[in-house]
Amino acid sequence: MRERFLSLHRNNTGSVNYLGIPGVFMKARKITGKVFLLGFLDWDARLFDSLIPLPDGTSYNAYLIEGSEKTVLIDTVETEFKDVLLDQLKGVKKLDYLVSLHAEQDHAGAIPSVLAKYPEAKLITSVKAKDMLIDLLLISKDKIITVDDGETLSLGDKTLEFIYTPWVHWPETMCAYLREDKILFSCDFFGSHIATTDVYVTDEGRVYEAAKRYFAEIMMPFNKIIIKNIDKVLAKDLSIIAPSHGPLYPKPSFIIDAYKDWLGSPAHNKVVLPYISMHGSTKKMVDYLVSSLVQKGITVELFNLAVTDIGKLAIALVDAGTIVIGTPTVLSGPHPNVVYGAYLANALRPKAKFISIIGSYGWGGKTVEILAGMIPNLKVEVLTPVLTKGYPLENDFKALEVLSEEIEKKHIEQGFK
Ligand code: FEO
Repeated sequence: MRERFLSLHRNNTGSVNYLGIPGVFMKARKITGKVFLLGFLDWDARLFDSLIPLPDGTSYNAYLIEGSEKTVLIDTVETEFKDVLLDQLKGVKKLDYLVSLHAEQDHAGAIPSVLAKYPEAKLITSVKAKDMLIDLLLISKDKIITVDDGETLSLGDKTLEFIYTPWVHWPETMCAYLREDKILFSCDFFGSHIATTDVYVTDEGRVYEAAKRYFAEIMMPFNKIIIKNIDKVLAKDLSIIAPSHGPLYPKPSFIIDAYKDWLGSPAHNKVVLPYISMHGSTKKMVDYLVSSLVQKGITVELFNLAVTDIGKLAIALVDAGTIVIGTPTVLSGPHPNVVYGAYLANALRPKAKFISIIGSYGWGGKTVEILAGMIPNLKVEVLTPVLTKGYPLENDFKALEVLSEEIEKKHIEQGFK
């Protein structure tokens, strides 16, 4: 579920708005001769899963394929936008199949409404998704046909092939490949949270950052499985990748090469430094360390956790060589915002090789022990933390200099530099 600035907007997307006036909907758009882009552009979405910031909104893409014998709809939209999808389907007299690539509600939410409009349609999904769709959306099991990895569905002159791609983003997810048009419908895989009227990627820089944010938050924790899934889809001849969020890729190598880089390349000569400072002591230490690292030619990305967009932090973590956490001691442990940042980093499992902790305390505490115990998923070497009692003095800056030198040495040894 997403949160948005204007709850009123929901009324404007329904069949009638708050004034009782019929809504105006985006029409279906043609991709190739008999393949159409449907769905909803969610310009106002600002938070996904009540967690992930969405600065550019998002889209929920659905795809209609009209074969010579059968018509199929791939995925739907969030429940609250079902009327938009149903309006786009107005001219479709008969729907033979509805394919659910992924059971999460942003794509599956309107399935019950589509099945109610087309009672003859069968719902096609992966074996694992069947129970999820029954549990989450109360869909009758009699409506569902499961397909195995590699199974095909004939639409007459077109053939859909199903490719199991687990963990992009849930364990049940799959892609569908339209052989004759060489289109891969990839659902969350390769997606980007952008609301845009462009059907295809036009601004690669903008989509690159949005896709990297998406990758960091959704795909990075499942690194090894994602690599296998890329190899699976690369076995197909791809002309277009059509994800269920964001614009389509007319040049699939753009996003595939980006994924390969994020997944397989060594970490960069970069330190990511999320921090909090309450009275300025920790900030003083952070500033010193940043300056020292930069003088050594190391890139630093700094995130004040009191104000930062955690999506930006997630992006930076994708290729960081070292993470340094800056925190004051609060109630004998790290600041709660830092706890949140450390928990997130542990969950995202970035490829950083080193970590350290710096900060100030008043009279004692277990900041280092608590933080160290929170990151079991990170395969990192802990570099000597620098904790200062009160305001940092010359000896503390010397210790930070030693830490900076140690980071440089480690980055050289690892080939980051
Ligand atoms: Fe876009 Fe995992 O749903």
